[in-house]
Amino acid sequence: MTKYVINGGNPLNGEIEISGAKNAAVAIIPAALMVDGVCRIENLPEISDVKTLLSILKEMGAKIRVVDKRTLDIDCSRVGTTAATFDMMRRIRASYYLIGALLGRFGRADVAMPGGCNFGGVRPIDQHIKGFTAMGASVHVKNGIVTAVTSDMVRGAAIYLDVVSVGATINLMLGATLAKGMTIIENAAREPHIVDLANFLNSMGADIRGAGTNEIKIRGVKCMNGGFYSIIPDQIEAGTYMAAVAATGGRLCIRNVIPKHLECISVKLREMGVTIVDLDDSVIVQRDAPLLKTHVKTLPYPGFPTDMQPQIATVLCLAEGTSTITEGVWDNRFKYVDELAKMGSTIRVDGRTAVVEGVPYLTGAPIKASDLRAGAALVIAGLAARGKTVLDGVQYIERGYDKMVSKLNSIGADVKIVSEREGKKITKKIV
Ligand code: EPU
Repeated sequence: MTKYVINGGNPLNGEIEISGAKNAAVAIIPAALMVDGVCRIENLPEISDVKTLLSILKEMGAKIRVVDKRTLDIDCSRVGTTAATFDMMRRIRASYYLIGALLGRFGRADVAMPGGCNFGGVRPIDQHIKGFTAMGASVHVKNGIVTAVTSDMVRGAAIYLDVVSVGATINLMLGATLAKGMTIIENAAREPHIVDLANFLNSMGADIRGAGTNEIKIRGVKCMNGGFYSIIPDQIEAGTYMAAVAATGGRLCIRNVIPKHLECISVKLREMGVTIVDLDDSVIVQRDAPLLKTHVKTLPYPGFPTDMQPQIATVLCLAEGTSTITEGVWDNRFKYVDELAKMGSTIRVDGRTAVVEGVPYLTGAPIKASDLRAGAALVIAGLAARGKTVLDGVQYIERGYDKMVSKLNSIGADVKIVSEREGKKITKKIV
């Protein structure tokens, strides 16, 4: 069992480099299944979700060559199976992208139902199923396996999404890339990783237009032949470090970012009194005055990201006055509030809204992460708190944050990784 021991109270200063985007990587790796040739993918984050997906592809017969720590050659030309029903599929949400990729390539997919973060409430896939059905597939779910079959191959269709869904937009783009004819996805999600997936597929030979708007047109192509692609920087990883500096104080240069993708986060931090300077591919974040209250509502991109909601809530715990946070994407994403309460925060949750009464300081405590972004929020709380925080459940953080502990320690934090194996305690100060 691994825990983080955080000695809080240090401001964060210096420079940090952002890794490739998790939610782009977990869409692009399954997309490689449809390419008849070698895809060289650069700027992959070193996170456990990526490792799990690569293991799944290998089990299916893909050849994967490590070029360097962040660059891989993936060759799926010899993959001959339509089934991805391994146990490890259930560990990650993005395994459901194999439905679109396999259906597009073979006209059939048998895929174990996805797992991933469970922050409360259900995570339906009805919009994915609706889209695949419109594209000529018959889709059944039995014993936890989704089977999607077409009589011949997928055909293009006009699909209107009833909810703006990142996952459905990506899955239907995958299914449509090698389809016969044109697919139009209306009310599509516009997140940066959707544009990144479209750019990846186009650079491999696909014909996709409109990604980044709410109407995406995909003209099916016969095959894709391979090429090179570099994944965009992670918007949420960058936002998490921005929030960390807001909570602890200090001055941080965050490098390898696309400032435009961070605007929705920067505007809220500026309202809270944080200084943010946008440069070409970096941002400087500085906080040296008391934090001010504000109101945040999460929405699909370009709105404030739900994946930053727990982190911003943690910062607002330290702001003067009463702030509110309204969750506009998920039914329930406030499980972390009970853990923050153990550190002295005052948050009241009423349905989809949390009312945060700012407190002058948080106090270190033993706490537990229940999902990836809750985990990031609790790390921020520990960094800003007085005293020692022992954080359990850090495997969630390692699903999506590349070397978080060493990055934090390089900018002045004091975080140790403590593993307990067979009753023995091993403490590592990671630098
Ligand atoms: N929804 C439906 N039906 C569907 C699909 C979604 O009703 O068929 C609803 C969901 O219940 C939710 C809303 O639509 O209320 C949005 O869900 P979406 O499909 O956009 O979420 P997702 O694709 O499952 C991705 C990210 C999440 C992120 C959401 C929203 C990946 C692998 N996951 O999930 O990221 O919260 O989009 O931006 O890309 C994370 O990185 O921590 C994370 C959870």
